[in-house]
Amino acid sequence: MAAHSYGYIDENGLPTDSLVDYVAERAKGGAGLVVLGASGISHEGALNERMILNLDERIIPRYQKISDEVHKYGCLVFDQIMHAGGQLEPREGKRIVAPSAIPHEAYNSFPVELTVDEINKTINDFVQAARRAQLGGLDGIELKCDQGYLIQQFLTPYYNRRDDEYGGSYENRLRFLVETLDAIRRSVGDGFVVGIRITGDSMAVGEMNLDDAIRVCSDIENRIDYIHVNGATNSTYLGYQISHGDSSIAAMNFAHLARAIKKKVKIPVIAASMILHPYEAEQLIESGSADLVAMTRAHIADAEIVNKVTEDRVEDIRPCIICNQGCVGNHWNFSDVRCIHNAATGRERELGIGTLVKSLVSKRVMVVGGGPAGLEVARVLSARGHEVELFERNREIGGQLILAAQFPYRQGFRDIIHYLETQIRKQKVVVHRGVRVTPDDLIDANGDFDAIVIATGAELSIPPIYENVDADACLTISDAIKDDKVGGNILIVDADWRRHALSVAESLIQRQRKVTMVSSDFYVSAGADIISRVSYYSRLQNKVTFIPLSVVHAFKEKTVYLRNVLDNSIRTVKPIDQIIFATGVKPNNELYNSLKGKLSNLFQVGDCVDPLGVPEAVLAANRLARRIF
Ligand SMILES: Cc1cc2nc3c(=O)[nH]c(=O)nc-3n(C[C@H](O)[C@H](O)[C@H](O)COP(=O)(O)OP(=O)(O)OC[C@H]3O[C@@H](n4cnc5c(N)ncnc54)[C@H](O)[C@@H]3O)c2cc1C
Ligand SMILES: Cc1cc2nc3c(=O)[nH]c(=O)nc-3n(C[C@H](O)[C@H](O)[C@H](O)COP(=O)(O)O)c2cc1C
Ligand code: SF4
Repeated sequence: MAAHSYGYIDENGLPTDSLVDYVAERAKGGAGLVVLGASGISHEGALNERMILNLDERIIPRYQKISDEVHKYGCLVFDQIMHAGGQLEPREGKRIVAPSAIPHEAYNSFPVELTVDEINKTINDFVQAARRAQLGGLDGIELKCDQGYLIQQFLTPYYNRRDDEYGGSYENRLRFLVETLDAIRRSVGDGFVVGIRITGDSMAVGEMNLDDAIRVCSDIENRIDYIHVNGATNSTYLGYQISHGDSSIAAMNFAHLARAIKKKVKIPVIAASMILHPYEAEQLIESGSADLVAMTRAHIADAEIVNKVTEDRVEDIRPCIICNQGCVGNHWNFSDVRCIHNAATGRERELGIGTLVKSLVSKRVMVVGGGPAGLEVARVLSARGHEVELFERNREIGGQLILAAQFPYRQGFRDIIHYLETQIRKQKVVVHRGVRVTPDDLIDANGDFDAIVIATGAELSIPPIYENVDADACLTISDAIKDDKVGGNILIVDADWRRHALSVAESLIQRQRKVTMVSSDFYVSAGADIISRVSYYSRLQNKVTFIPLSVVHAFKEKTVYLRNVLDNSIRTVKPIDQIIFATGVKPNNELYNSLKGKLSNLFQVGDCVDPLGVPEAVLAANRLARRIF
C-alpha cells in the first residue's frame, strides 16, 4: 500500500490511535508493505495541517506503536518523508522556500530561494526524520522525489534556476538528492531500507520526462534499495488529476513508466497508480513490468483485499469504484480519509475486521428498500446470523445508484450494487423484487418479523422557489438521461454540493446538446473536490457555458432571466428549451411516519432519514444492523 496522507493525526501532527488502527488493519488484511505518510520533515516543508509531522522526538513512540502493530502480521512499514518546496498555498506566517523563486501554476504562492545554509539544514532535516523513523522501529523510509515537490524541483531546470553548485548542469541539479541520500545512509546504516518515489514522467511542460527519470534512477541506484515509480505532478491541476485518476483515466496508467525504468536498473521497482484489481497487479508482476505493485485506493476500499485474493474470495472484495469521493475528496477538503461505501475505513476499531458479533439468537427482519442503505442493513444483519427478507418496489435493486451509474464515468456505482447483491445472495437474504410495501403490508407483516427496517430513500425534487418558471419546462436529473425529453438547448441549475450537475452536463454534451450551467457560487460544482472538478472541467470547459454567481429568476418564451447574486442585476440567456435542476432530493419518509409509534421494533435508515449520500447511508445502515438485537 503506497503512501497516502490519511489524516488521523492530532493537533501536533502526530499519528493518533485511529491511524495506528487504520494501518494495522491493512497489515492484518494481508498487505506486505505499508508506506506511511507523506510526513513533513519541517514546518516549512509540510504541505498542510493534515499530514504527519516528523519534526522531533515526539514522533518516535508513535512510530513504535505503529511498527509494533504492523509487524504482528508479518508486514513491513516505511515512512515517506517529504518537503513540499514551493508547492504550497500561502498561509499567514508560513515561509515558502524552493530551489529558485519560481511559482507553481496550481498554487498562488511565490517562494523564496533557499540559501546554501538552508539547503544544508534541509538535508539535515531529512536525515533526522529518517533517523527518528528508524528509532521508532520502522523498516525503512521512502524519499519523496515525485509529484513536483522539493527534490523534483531541484532536479527540474524549469524550477531550478540556481547558478551555484545546486543548479545549472545536470550534475549540480542532482546534487541535493545525492547529498540527501548519502547523509541519510550515513545515519541509518545499511540494514535500513532507503527508497525513493520518483515521477516517471511529469506530463507537464518543462518538467521531468521519462528520459530524465531514467537518467536519475540509473545514477543513484547504487545509493538506494528500491525505486517506486509514480507519474505526473501535483504542480499542475492536470497532473493532480492524472495521478489520482477517476474512472476517466485508464487502468495502470503509469505501468509503462515503471517498465521502462525497470529495464535500466538492477534494484527492485514498484509500479503504482490505477492498479485496482488483483488481476491487474498479477499481470504487471507476471509480465515483468515491476517487481512489486502498490495499490492505494484498493486498500482504502477493502483492507482485506490481499487475504481475499489468497483465500480465493475475489468476489468478496469491496471494489474501489474510483469515485474519489471519500478518499481524495475528503483529503483535499481537509478531512480524514474514508471510503464512499466502506463504513469501516477510518473506523477500524468500531467496524473493522473481527468486530462483527454473531447473534446468539437468530431473528427475522424485514427490510423495505433495496438501495445501498437497505442492502447494507441486510448484509450486516445476515452476516450476524439473522434471517432477512428485503422488499424492493422496482425489479432492479440499487436505489438511486441505478440512476447515478447511467452518467458518464459513473458506472462504478453499479459495482457497489453488485458487491452488496453478491454478499446478500451468498448470505441467503430473500429478495422480493417489484413489491411496493404499503403501511397495511407492514401492519400485516409485523407478526411475522421481529423487526422492520425502513430504507425507502429519497426522491429527486425541485424546491418550490422558482415561481416565474413554467413547470412543464422544468426537468430533474432523471429526465436528463431520457433522450426524447430533452431539447437541443439546456440550462442546468447546479445547487447540489456533489457532481450531479457536471455529470448531467457531460451526458448532454455527449448527446450533442448545447449546455449552459448556472451556479450561485463562484464557480459550478464548488462543493466537489478539486481533483474531480479538474477532471470534469478538462473535458467540459470548451463545450459548456459556465455562468457563476447567478440564480434563475424567470423563464418564459425560451428565455431564461438570471439574477446576479452580488448586485441583483438581470441578464438573459436564450434560446433555452428546458431547465434541468440538479437541486437535491427529498426524503421518502411517509411509510415510516405513518407507522411510527404504532409498531414496535420499527427502524428507519439512509436517505429517508437524511438524504446526505452513500457514505452516510451505508454507515448508518452498518451501525443500525449491529445494534438491532
Ligand atoms: C444521479 C444521482 C447521483 C448521485 N451521486 C452521488 C454521489 O456521487 N455520491 C453520493 O454519496 N451520493 C450520490 N447520490 C445519492 C445516493 O445515491 C443516495 O444517497 C443513496 O442511494 C441513498 O441510499 P438509500 O438506500 O438510503 O436510498 P435509495 O438509494 O433512494 O434507495 C431506496 C430504495 O427504496 C425503494 N423503495 C422506496 N419506497 C419503497 C416501498 N414502499 N416499497 C419497497 N421499496 C421502496 C426505492 O425504490 C429504492 O430502491 C446520487 C443520487 C443520484 C440520484
Ligand atoms: C487520499 C490520498 C492521499 C495521498 N497522499 C499521498 C502522499 O502523501 N504521498 C504520495 O506519494 N502519494 C499520495 N497519494 C497517491 C497514492 O500513493 C497513489 O499514487 C494514488 O492514489 C494512485 O494509486 P491508486 O490508483 O492505487 O490509488 C495519495 C492518494 C490518496 C487517495
Ligand atoms: S472513496 Fe471511492 S475512490 Fe476512494 S477508495 Fe472508496 S471507492 Fe475508491
